[in-house]
Amino acid sequence: MTTLGIETSCDETAVALYDPARGLLAHLIHSQVATHAPYGGVVPELASRDHIRKLLPMVDGCLGSAGLAGPELAGVAYTAGPGLIGALLVGATLAVGLAEAWGIPAVPVHHMEAHLLAPLLEADRPAFPFLALLVSGGHSMLVEVAGLGRYRILGQTLDDAAGEAFDKTAKMLGLPYPGGPQLARLAGEGRADRFAFPRPMLNRAGLDFSFSGLKTAVLLKARELARDGQLAEADRVDLANSFQEAVVDTLVAKCARALDATGLQRLVVAGGVGANRRLRQRLRDELTARGAHVYYPRNEFCTDNGAMVALAGSLRLPAVAVPGGRVEARARWDLEDLRQP
Ligand code: KG4
Ligand code: ZN
Repeated sequence: MTTLGIETSCDETAVALYDPARGLLAHLIHSQVATHAPYGGVVPELASRDHIRKLLPMVDGCLGSAGLAGPELAGVAYTAGPGLIGALLVGATLAVGLAEAWGIPAVPVHHMEAHLLAPLLEADRPAFPFLALLVSGGHSMLVEVAGLGRYRILGQTLDDAAGEAFDKTAKMLGLPYPGGPQLARLAGEGRADRFAFPRPMLNRAGLDFSFSGLKTAVLLKARELARDGQLAEADRVDLANSFQEAVVDTLVAKCARALDATGLQRLVVAGGVGANRRLRQRLRDELTARGAHVYYPRNEFCTDNGAMVALAGSLRLPAVAVPGGRVEARARWDLEDLRQP
């Protein structure tokens, strides 16, 4: 009952094979970071072209390493959205083509559903219901997960996503693209308490986030400290750490508030920012002290990957009976529009 998973929604080409009984059989990730770095951000047309080049050899690579042939699989799952439309179409058309050729179903998967189910790939896996903190480059949200396809968004960002705030702040501090992980590294060398940046939305009721004001506060402070447009290294590392601490404080406080509001005791952390070590440490320390349990996918499955798509696809496969399928790709797709299979 092995499912092939294909992820091409943005700048990672990723493929994996997942079997509910045997677990993850193979996975490959190709990052396009080097392709986009000279432009300081993802160039959609370049992303699509690179997915075309890399995807089929990676599918062959996974099948080869697992010793499986396409027609032996149960289904082909692919990210159908949200994401860059051209990039999504590369994965969707190949997935549906392979499924037609192999006589098995193609299963469209919602990218954020795949992210929030990613901790189910690990040995320490959460049972339903749980609270999910989804923090990536495109999204920041708290979701109440009652079961597969039963999602209620409790709060989301009113402006920048958490990852976007990391990336933009990193750029201001002169770090090369993609800045989030580099800013986190720089933060490790600085002081968290030198600058009292705002903790956005903490003084207001509710579970929404806002990160653009914090980003502006860092920009203003950086301008004030710069001499001839240059920041001293000691200032850069302290700005980085004080920024990171403000984001982490905000996320930890909102998670605690959401656990209280829902009465849930399990928290899943997913999406690229979930790889942030300070966030992981603070969530674990502060939420376990309150009796909650925090679940993470391993680092490489926090950022975009094929394993989470294969897993989400295998859970939705029983509801998709017919071989092949329609090519589905949606740039925008509301998580709450999903239904139970
Ligand atoms: O989930 P993801 O791979 O792609 C999206 O679907 O957006 O998330 C990528 C985002 C980027 O904004 C990146 O800067 C951020 O996650 N990120 C981090 C870290 N690693 C990745 N942000 C903070 N600390 C990290 N260690
Ligand atoms: Zn993602």
